Parts: sequence; C-alpha cells; structure tokens
Amino acid sequence: MVAICMCLSLVSLFSLAYASSHASHGMVVRERHDRVPNGFVHSGVAPSDVVLNLRIGLAQGNFPGLEEALYAVSTPGSELYGHHLSKEEAEAFVEPTAETSTSIKSWLASHGLSATAATPAGDWLKLSLTVEQANELLDANFSTFTHKNTGRQTIRTLSYSVPAELTTHITFVHPTVLFPMKPFGTGLNFKSLGKAKRDSDAASASCENEFTPACIQELYGIPTKRATQESNHLAVTGSLGNFANKADLKFFLTQFRKDLPVSTTFSLQTLDGGSNSQKRSEAGSEADLDTQYTIGIASGVPVTFISVGNDDNDGIGGFLDIIEFLLNETSVPHVLSTSYGFDENYLTTDIVTPVCNAYAQLGARGTSLLFASGDGGVSGGQFTSDCTTFIPTFPSTCPFVTSVGGTAGLHPETAANFSAGGFSTLFPMPSYQAEAVNWFLSGLGSTFSGLFNASGRAYPDLSAVGVNVPIVWEGKVGTVDGTSCSTPITAGMIALLNDELIAAKKSPLGFLNPFIYQNSDIFTDITAGTNPGCGTNGFIAGKGWDPVTGVGSPVFAKLRTAVGL
Ligand SMILES: *[C@@H]1O[C@H](CO)[C@@H](O)[C@H](O)[C@H]1NC(C)=O
Ligand SMILES: *[C@@H]1O[C@H](CO)[C@@H](O)[C@H](O)[C@H]1NC(C)=O
Ligand SMILES: *[C@@H]1O[C@H](CO)[C@@H](O)[C@H](O)[C@H]1NC(C)=O
Ligand SMILES: *[C@@H]1O[C@H](CO)[C@@H](O)[C@H](O)[C@H]1NC(C)=O
Repeated sequence: MVAICMCLSLVSLFSLAYASSHASHGMVVRERHDRVPNGFVHSGVAPSDVVLNLRIGLAQGNFPGLEEALYAVSTPGSELYGHHLSKEEAEAFVEPTAETSTSIKSWLASHGLSATAATPAGDWLKLSLTVEQANELLDANFSTFTHKNTGRQTIRTLSYSVPAELTTHITFVHPTVLFPMKPFGTGLNFKSLGKAKRDSDAASASCENEFTPACIQELYGIPTKRATQESNHLAVTGSLGNFANKADLKFFLTQFRKDLPVSTTFSLQTLDGGSNSQKRSEAGSEADLDTQYTIGIASGVPVTFISVGNDDNDGIGGFLDIIEFLLNETSVPHVLSTSYGFDENYLTTDIVTPVCNAYAQLGARGTSLLFASGDGGVSGGQFTSDCTTFIPTFPSTCPFVTSVGGTAGLHPETAANFSAGGFSTLFPMPSYQAEAVNWFLSGLGSTFSGLFNASGRAYPDLSAVGVNVPIVWEGKVGTVDGTSCSTPITAGMIALLNDELIAAKKSPLGFLNPFIYQNSDIFTDITAGTNPGCGTNGFIAGKGWDPVTGVGSPVFAKLRTAVGL
C-alpha cells in the first residue's frame, strides 16, 4: 500500500460546534479553516447555480445500544455470541429520534429544500441544492479551489454553520470543509520479475524471493481445498478508477493456483457511476492484488469486487458510498477487505465518527471488516521523516474494525518495517484491547512520550505477510509489498473459517477484535523488527501485542479450534 500523495493539510481545521461566539441570526460555526488548506489555491467564488450533492448526518437515536449489542454478539463467552442483528434490528438503534428528524426537516423546508434518506435508517440524508442555496442554508461561502499538483478543481467552503438549536441534531454536513484527498493504497510499487510468461514450475520459486499463495498456505497452514458454502460471501472494495482485471486474475491462477478452476472469478458491484474497465492498461495494481489474494487464498469462496465511481464526488475515496450501499443490503458480506485508508490527521471527528459508527452496524450484522494499517510505519499511510508527531491511519483507528499490519521474512517471521501502527488521536482505547496494550505501554515507559496519545485506540490488531508478494498486473508477473497484501490474505483466511462455520450450521465470525484479544496466545507472536518514521526508529515488535504487528500472525489450525470447529 504505497501512497501517491497526501498533499494537503487540515491541521488548521478546528471544530467549533456549540461555540456561541460567532453567531449570526442564530447560526453557530460548525467547522472552519483559518486559511486554504495546503496544496490548494483559491480560484474564485463558485457559480451560484452549480448543484452540490450534500450529505447531512443526523444524531443517532441510540448508538450506545448498538455498541452494546455489537459487543454482545462479538464477544466469545457472551450469551448472545454469534447472534448477529438483522438489518431492521441494527437500524432500530441508529434511527434518529422523531425530534431530530422533524427539526431537520422543518429547517430544510424553511429554505424550500427537502432531503432523501441516504441510509435505510435515515441517519444520513442526501440533499441536492445549488451553491446559492447551500451558502444561504449553511452561512457558507462555497468557492472553487484548485489542487496545485493535479489542477483538479473542487468546490468547498472554508467554513459552515448550522442553526444553534440544531447543533446536537446534526453530526456532519459533507462535503463542506473537508477537501478531497486520495486514499493511500492507490499506487503500489510493482517490481516486475521481467518475464511476460513464466516457467511452469514458477510457483515453486523460493519463498524468500516470492511469497506465493503456496508459501502463504504453508506458513499459516491454510487449507487448499475449495470452500463449499454458496451463501458465504467476501467483498473487496475498490477505490476510484482502480480496476480489477479478469485476464490478470486468470493468468495469476494459472501461475499460482493451478488447482483452482481457471474460470474462478469475482462478481462485480458498481456504485455511483463506478465501472470496472477490462482494458489491461487500465488495470489497477491494488485492485488486482486485492482480488488475486482474496480469491487465491479463500479457495472457492464467492468474492465480489465493489467499484465506486465519482458521481457523488465524496472526496474521500468513495468510502461513504460503500457504506451506504452495504447498509442497504439485506444480507451483508461476511468479510469485507479494504486496502485503502487515510492519515487520521487529515480528518476530523465530524467525519470519522459517523463512518466508524456505520462500521459498527455492519459488524453487529455479522461482517468482519478488515483494513490495511498503512505502509508508513509510525508516520502513517506512507513513509515520511517529516512529521513532528506519529501519524495514525483511519479506518484502522476505528475501534469497530480489524486493522492488519505487515510481516516479512520466513525464518523467523519478522515485522515489515513499513507496517503502520500506533495510537488514535480521535478514538479512545476500547476495553477489549486495554490489557494487551497497557502491558505494552508499561514496557515502553516514557519512550516517544509526546509523539502519540497513549489513551487512544491502538492498532494494528494482527498482521500477515506483506513482502515480496507476486501478483499479475497488466499481464506481467511482479512482486509488491505492503499491508495491502496482508489484508486480503487475512480476509481470505477468515472467509475460509466462515465457510466451515456455515457448513457446521454455526454463525460466521463477524466483528473479530474481542475474539482476537481473548485468544491472543494462538497467534504467532512477532518479536523482531520495528516500524520507523517521523525521524525515529519506530516502535519495536516484541513479546505480546505491539503497535507494529498487533498480536501477531494467524495460524489456521489454531483459529479453527478456537472458533469451535
Ligand atoms: C435501498 O434499496 C432499496 C431496494 O433496492 C431501494 O429501493 C432503496 O432506495 C434503497 N435505499 C437507500 C436509502 O438507498
Ligand atoms: C466569499 O469569498 C469571496 C472570495 O474570497 C469573497 O470575495 C467574498 O467576499 C466572500 N463572501 C462572503 C459573503 O463572505
Ligand atoms: C525498510 O526495509 C527496506 C528493505 O530492507 C529498506 O530498503 C528500507 O530503507 C527500510 N525503510 C526504512 C524506513 O527503514
Ligand atoms: C488522547 O485521546 C483521548 C481519548 O481519545 C482524548 O480524549 C484526548 O483528547 C486525546 N489527547 C490528545 C492530546 O490528543
């Protein structure tokens, strides 16, 4: 997961919800920048008749109830373990109160506007309106900004306000002050092995040079026999313009999984104008990796590739579109693998909280959500020395998802030096990891004090191979590195466990973290390596949980026993 560019800085963004100082006709500033974010230039007022598609987040009726239900169904030993919520049960918790819905509706109506539900529970609304109407509604000044490197233009405002009496009812309005950003994971460093066609025995190349599916299966004891359960379902998210190529997949299977039918492929789900071009020159290395290693590890499990388009211009890699789509599915995927993310310091609580809460809904309904931790060690999505504090990554810092770090080397398996890990500055530490993380912190003492927030959600949760992983991209075989490899590999293993669980008439695993930390001793502890960044050597992978490799790497047979198979 090598990032291309995170060229902007929102460090000057501050949230002034509930502030009463800057009130004009009962409006309070919700969020504002004191200057144009780095990387963008102001290029004039936005034309007043341009139509904006906004989402408005409404306060959820009973999120604490949902959270409690999530832990009840996800914590082994709990009476309700595995009794995942139905769509309706999850929605009942997060549906806004009548007071919230009514007051938002009448506010919009008083401006001649009406919104439609973006999520089935109605906690996110969609609203199309002109720049002129948006400026009026939100006391904003929507303007055109140009990205200095790409020249791409975008319409944003440097500040927006909401009526004082609605501050507790509104959780976010987007896109407003959050400038577009490219997720990390959109550009991998593909090292071609220089051969268009491979020898028939290529799959037996040394694991030291190419960590093939066969090497991974051997290392983690992953079964090679095909899964049997049609209802089992693994989904892989794509990001804008990163297309998964079927011919590349086919070539991959002929090289590395000769035992699987060469016709094995993924189904496609497109959202918001998304497509999945099959022109080989438009294949995305990340999308190819993600489909090849879910399909290549989760032998026979149905896989869907979700391709997001640009229609809504959400500016955050289609993450909102994907959530809205999944929440509206009657039956959610059992596993969702995502190798994209953002440096948390570009984001604000206003946007990460609703996204993370939506992941909690999916977890409560039985989805295992896996996210790559990032490839910049303690400096986040990509390596940099240019940071004054460690940079955590999102969604890894959301306590309701599983964050996957990277390992390298066989004898013994060591931490990959790019494996991102650390502590959130936005989300507090969840109780399921407190014991393991506090043990680590007590060993760390005052090292790196001031560079990270020791009371934040710590990540990654676990890790898997992420170095020298061969893929086929644009018809060529080459290797890639990154937690982008570790994530689909881990997702594939979870999907295989789910296959066996479903065959045994048991529930799929759903939200994994309480299980992972309760069973941390069944993982292979990674005790060598560090994750440098920000001019430091980074954290050290040592005994027990650490912010480089989490609890360690998975061992299939031990997982199988621990889940009761
Ligand atoms: C959810 O899906 C249904 C059926 O496909 C559709 O009619 C409805 O508009 C969707 N709702 C939302 C909020 O997207
Ligand atoms: C909006 O921004 C433009 C360009 O910076 C500025 O000229 C104008 O005065 C602003 N309008 C308001 C109402 O603040
Ligand atoms: C990580 O390891 C690779 C391979 O050994 C090396 O080339 C790279 O410089 C290391 N990165 C850092 C940040 O130390
Ligand atoms: C540290 O994290 C905690 C929990 O999320 C939060 O309440 C606190 O504000 C954070 N402190 C800093 C300095 O970021």
